[in-house]
Amino acid sequence: MLAEVLLLLVLPCQAEVAAQAIALNCMSCHQLVSDASGTVIPALKSLSEQQIQQALLDFKYDKKNATLMPRIAKGYSDSELIAVAEFLSRQ
Ligand code: HEC
Repeated sequence: MLAEVLLLLVLPCQAEVAAQAIALNCMSCHQLVSDASGTVIPALKSLSEQQIQQALLDFKYDKKNATLMPRIAKGYSDSELIAVAEFLSRQ
């Protein structure tokens, strides 16, 4: 019982750290906000949590054609993609 309570307390923190760590990878290519340089890599700030999540899952399951993102999305579990979408939408 005590172990379960402790697990419930710890789990959300671990998920937050994981989502933040994954998001740092995303930021090596993506910016949050578009600048005037006309970069081909889309900024993520203008996208909602649902849009980011849907795009990531579509990349992962080859429902959306792209160059880099399918490879990246396949490297994460669905729950990691959902967590990073939620994290990024709050930035
Ligand atoms: C190596 C560079 C790179 C990294 C790292 C990267 N992306 Fe991307 N991302 C791209 C490119 C390039 C595109 C355009 C689609 C394509 O060609 O893959 C894109 C497209 C997207 C899109 C679609 C945006 C739209 O408007 O349709 C989303 C959402 C996205 N990335 C999220 C992420 C997330 C979340 C991560 C971290 C898990 C991430 N990306 C990591 C390069 C990257």
